[in-house]
Amino acid sequence: MGINIIAHRGSSKAAPENTKSAFKQAIKDQADGIELDVHLTADNQVIVIHDPTIDRTSKGKGFIKNFKLNELKQYEFGSFFDEKFKNEKILTLTEALEIIKNLSFINIEIKKGYNINQGIEEEVLKSIEKINLKNEIIISSFNHESLKMIKNIRNDIKIAPLLYARLNKPWDYAINLSAEYLHLYYKLVNKEIIEKCHQHGIKVNVFTVDEKYDLNKMINYEVDGIITNYPIRARDLLANKNLK
Ligand code: G3P
Ligand code: CA
Repeated sequence: MGINIIAHRGSSKAAPENTKSAFKQAIKDQADGIELDVHLTADNQVIVIHDPTIDRTSKGKGFIKNFKLNELKQYEFGSFFDEKFKNEKILTLTEALEIIKNLSFINIEIKKGYNINQGIEEEVLKSIEKINLKNEIIISSFNHESLKMIKNIRNDIKIAPLLYARLNKPWDYAINLSAEYLHLYYKLVNKEIIEKCHQHGIKVNVFTVDEKYDLNKMINYEVDGIITNYPIRARDLLANKNLK
């Protein structure tokens, strides 16, 4: 099958994360897929951004949940990375999917906390349904209740609990959640865990792997996918080993 290279927030070391430029760069860098993060605006629009506030990635301040989409569109989300990206506008999930729809793999990470993004699951699914996507879509989250909600609404959408913890028998945890994937922190996996997951029909993508030493290790473990800020680096390493 090969190992999927998944560009984390797009090619986010070459362009500002979660923007059109980062996604286009990931396509140029021959990523198989893209990982992006989503939040809900005050007017219930799904937008692509990592943090719950706009403070770090724009010149504005405030929580996303307090802005309407048209207000967020007034800001730019590129110059924090480099002045040359100063025209970068925030993307709705629908706009992002239009850019990346030809990739074979799309990973939408739902950010959800007790006081943010309630009801985001239905809105994410609506965005997916709007575009006739033929690729593999995986919805991941650290909020596993949110993933259960996704499954309850659309059983055919694949889900991936994100885990920073080393669970006892993580494959059983995935099966119990009806998850097809586990998204595991790369420092907490070993070959045995990957093999056991595979024996139980669970695929494993690891995050966020950037250094050559770690990328090689994950390739040797035969993970299903590597989430990385440097997709071109991962692609070159795979090519050197004559792997896809
Ligand atoms: O999906 C893996 C990774 O993106 C999870 O952490 O904080 O970068 O969204 P974070
Ligand atoms: Ca993420």
